[in-house]
Amino acid sequence: MKTSCLSLFHFVKILYFCSLMKETFNLQTSEQIVAALQRRGPQAKALQEYAREIKLQSVGNQVYLRGLIEYSNCCSKSCYYCGIRGGNPQVHRYTVSTEETLEAARFAYENGFGSIVLQAGERNDKAYTQQIEKLLLDIDKISKGELGITLSLGEQNRSTLLRWKQAGAKRYLLRIEASDPTLYAKLHPADHSYQKRLECIDLLKDLNYQVGTGVMIGLPFQTYENLAQDLLFFQKRDIDMIGMGPYIEHAQTPLYAYKDQLLSIEERYILSLNMLAVLRILMPDINIASTTAMGSLKKEGREEAIRIAANVIMPNLTPFSYREDYFLYQDKICINESNADSKINIEALVQRAGCKIAYHAHGDSHHFFNRQKR
Ligand code: 5AD
Repeated sequence: MKTSCLSLFHFVKILYFCSLMKETFNLQTSEQIVAALQRRGPQAKALQEYAREIKLQSVGNQVYLRGLIEYSNCCSKSCYYCGIRGGNPQVHRYTVSTEETLEAARFAYENGFGSIVLQAGERNDKAYTQQIEKLLLDIDKISKGELGITLSLGEQNRSTLLRWKQAGAKRYLLRIEASDPTLYAKLHPADHSYQKRLECIDLLKDLNYQVGTGVMIGLPFQTYENLAQDLLFFQKRDIDMIGMGPYIEHAQTPLYAYKDQLLSIEERYILSLNMLAVLRILMPDINIASTTAMGSLKKEGREEAIRIAANVIMPNLTPFSYREDYFLYQDKICINESNADSKINIEALVQRAGCKIAYHAHGDSHHFFNRQKR
């Protein structure tokens, strides 16, 4: 009697799960998206499994590597959330030497990474922009033009972005951080212009870069409605690549004062997974990164992001001695990991996610090519 009750229970459970799996997700309005983001438990699981299906159908189970070089933590901006903000006097500032940068790029090339990302705080002075241009040309040379190069170097003017493009950069990441202008203003000092950031994103598109943006999830003052609008913003702007992850506090930043108002780690984590899932459903052919912040919030975060939605991951190739100075938020991972270990760890996590690393592949955003055809 007991056995048949139990099996009946399991049967009903399976039926219930199948009905959730078959559920279609109508995600056109911001109300529908808010409802999806608020899902918890088996309902959230069903959303995430559906996103996984969409991901497998549209971009497959391949994961592309971008070797991340955190080139410099010098920054002329003072964003209220960021550990390396110009206004933090406790940061030991660095810029990686040309030789070391090229060595990291060579590691990526020789290990079949396909692409690298050069990321740094924002600087706009001529000496710096020329230095980047020279680096791009050198990287192109050592990789015989085969490494895909992504830049993540903040807001720049048209002529700089054009020169960098001509020197070999193909993709550019410029997160909007929060697409609502009022929320944006709460996260940045008054001299940071939301409008200028939007214009820069448009400029990147105009210059034919593959354009990446993104937001932080679980920020102080942020609402579910804000997050739904963020996703609609990506869609409306026809973005090719998204990097978004949880906001994580840092004691030497102004936003730390609001740490008691934040969602719990568990809540921020589930919300981040739901955001990734909805994004994949809304924009099936874009590239989505499994961010370091996901892995810093929760040990299995990067793996789970790949399982349900992401198809890009960025092994950290920053020369060892600089890593702890690129401290964007507390508990940031990959600080004590060698390049070789990072490669092994990422291979294992991608495998656990049921996916496969595509070595020697650029892994360009399908969306970028699809939007050219329209
Ligand atoms: N928590 C999470 N992400 C952060 N970033 C900066 N500070 C934080 C933080 N405290 C992200 C921003 C930036 C990227 C380089 O790192 O979104 O664009």
